[in-house]
Amino acid sequence: MKIKKALITAGGKGTRLRPITYVHNKHLIPMVNKPMLQYALEYVASAGIKDIGIITNPDYHDLEAVFGSGKTLGVKVTYIPQEAPLGLAHAVKIAEPFLKGEPFVYYLGDNILRGGIQTFLDAFYSLKSDCHLVLSKVRDPQRFGVPELSDNRIISIEEKPEHPKSDYAVTGIYIYNESIFEAVNAIKPSPRGELEISDAHQHLIENGKNITYSEITGWWKDTGKPEDLLEANRMLLEDVRTLIQGTTDDLSVLAGNIVLSSGSVVENSVIRGPVHIGKNCRIQNSYLGPYTCVGNGCEVVNSEIEYSILMDDSAVRYVDIRIEGSILGKSAVISKSEGIPSNHRFIIGDRSQVQIR
Ligand code: G1P
Repeated sequence: MKIKKALITAGGKGTRLRPITYVHNKHLIPMVNKPMLQYALEYVASAGIKDIGIITNPDYHDLEAVFGSGKTLGVKVTYIPQEAPLGLAHAVKIAEPFLKGEPFVYYLGDNILRGGIQTFLDAFYSLKSDCHLVLSKVRDPQRFGVPELSDNRIISIEEKPEHPKSDYAVTGIYIYNESIFEAVNAIKPSPRGELEISDAHQHLIENGKNITYSEITGWWKDTGKPEDLLEANRMLLEDVRTLIQGTTDDLSVLAGNIVLSSGSVVENSVIRGPVHIGKNCRIQNSYLGPYTCVGNGCEVVNSEIEYSILMDDSAVRYVDIRIEGSILGKSAVISKSEGIPSNHRFIIGDRSQVQIR
């Protein structure tokens, strides 16, 4: 039976991404100037799946404000609030009325990968799977669901094991047929009080279901921590191709793949791609180095920035030292202090992180 539905998670509190997630739903954090969740929606849509349920926090209407009915992306979105973060298997359980016992793609909205999901769907069909998992080799399997493999088969799965039985993570892209509903209804909450998706997978294995897998040999990241955001952004920037809609002057040097969106102006600056600059920005007497994204309405004046994300309306002015590996939230400003005595001056929100030298 051809898959027509997908379930995408976009709830959770994103605690490890504070302070950014005090204001933003994690899934709306821009990756190459596009909300993170849009990648999941586009990948699912380009695999021909247009009927999409999104699991949300009950008090988060910001997702609806951005994606609405899904029409602009050519999909139909149904928002499914989860009353509390009770686990990924719980999310499947509450989405059962939407999914109506049909096979579906389950996609964790904070997982970023390159290349889409079509090959995984093809494998699900051709292997006649009950459950198709996507694995990726990682350095820190303790953070993930981990499979135990024998003769190219998954023989067990554990959630965040202390002693992992392989160096693979089960990534957040899953394809199921109706047998998953029996599993999510049978399992009990884990010690952290959640219905774990890994326990549902283990249940399927113990009940003789056909669990198959693909391996991601390219790039995959679950964006739990600030450094993951920068890395995911870096990876996605690799696909950026030059598009200059804004204006540059004769004194500026642009090299590599650069997007300069309309209304943006580059003056007397050096930009080395891949770099993505949103609309109505001003880059003046500055250097923007590889893997930098600048949102809409930003200003970079007499400063140097590399491998960083600047969200909308933020500004960096007259900063003498090169800024690297940094994330600036909306309307954040870094500037030189002009007063006497010469000093550093900070007005930063709760849980912000500043490193100076
Ligand atoms: C969740 C799953 C885990 C999976 C991971 C992939 O973990 O529980 O099995 O490997 O997503 O992103 P979480 O990100 O909730 O810690």
